[in-house]
Amino acid sequence: MLSSVISTQIAAHAPYGGVVPEIAARAHVEVIDAVILQAMSDAGVGFDGLNGVAATAGPGLVGGVMVGLSAGKAIALARGLPLVAVNHLEGHAVSARLSEDIAYPFLLLLVSGGHCQLLEVSGVGACRRLGSTIDDAAGEAFDKIAKTLGLPYPGGPALEKLAEGGDASRFPLPRALLGRDGCDFSFSGLKTAAARLAEGLTSDTDKRDLAASVQGAIARQLAERTDRAMLLYAREHEGRDLRFVVAGGVAANATVRAVLTQGAAKRGFSLFAPSLAYCTDNAAMIALAGAERLAAGISDGLDAQARPRWPLDAAAALANPTHAFGRKGAKA
Ligand code: KG4
Ligand code: ZN
Repeated sequence: MLSSVISTQIAAHAPYGGVVPEIAARAHVEVIDAVILQAMSDAGVGFDGLNGVAATAGPGLVGGVMVGLSAGKAIALARGLPLVAVNHLEGHAVSARLSEDIAYPFLLLLVSGGHCQLLEVSGVGACRRLGSTIDDAAGEAFDKIAKTLGLPYPGGPALEKLAEGGDASRFPLPRALLGRDGCDFSFSGLKTAAARLAEGLTSDTDKRDLAASVQGAIARQLAERTDRAMLLYAREHEGRDLRFVVAGGVAANATVRAVLTQGAAKRGFSLFAPSLAYCTDNAAMIALAGAERLAAGISDGLDAQARPRWPLDAAAALANPTHAFGRKGAKA
């Protein structure tokens, strides 16, 4: 990796307690040129030194995605370079490969603010979904519960900090889907229960214990559902090396990492996780996904579209849509 520049717009959204789409799009326009120039200058290469351009084409808030994709197209057009329109989730899927050469296939737990999925990743762009959230994503649960505890956005890191030294067994919280077949997730019951408990709390100790209990409950659900996927995956890959990767913003959480490390050891999986800085959104993982695609001979036309929704496993998403009529929440 020659450079990785992150421009954050959290401060612009903070007064509203969450991301405002219009502000997000405008903030992208304002910084995109400077961020690209900074990345080129840190890398010490000129535009002549590029072999291709990778840009996120979705899924996500489409205003920001369009800004990045248009900038990528402009460079590709001006320089006659191939363009790779990258799925943001594929970036997370390869993010652990930024620091370690992890061979395919691997079992992936992708836990971010918008997504919570278990996937078998068998190569560049080849994903099979084993499970997904039926309501909120894990990061979304962290963010929403943190808000009810009066913490700033993004809630995950703030809640982790508050939970330090708290008693995780103090508040019993619901264990959704416990013992249920399949590898899906659900966090909405936990969210409601935690919000109700948070209402009556005033002392710092109470809040710290609730934060620790919530963090423990989210980690436990991730571990329980991942364990089911590990059993399934191990049966299908008998006699072969078993690799497990956890990626996405929530993978930065130490409690989540700890329970998954235990679970992986129990089932004979080697665990890989991106270094903390590359768990949350970054451009390096998109560049790597693009480079892997280019090496495999895959690129896109300049008519590539920005896509608000773009499942990694399109067939599974169609067969079992998480955002069908009557179901809410998950942006998967
Ligand atoms: O991958 P990411 O940067 O963006 C998406 O693609 O969604 O993930 C952001 C999410 C947010 O919900 C944030 O609260 C959560 O990851 N997050 C954490 C931690 N760091 C980030 N959740 C729990 N503990 C953390 N340390
Ligand atoms: Zn992300």
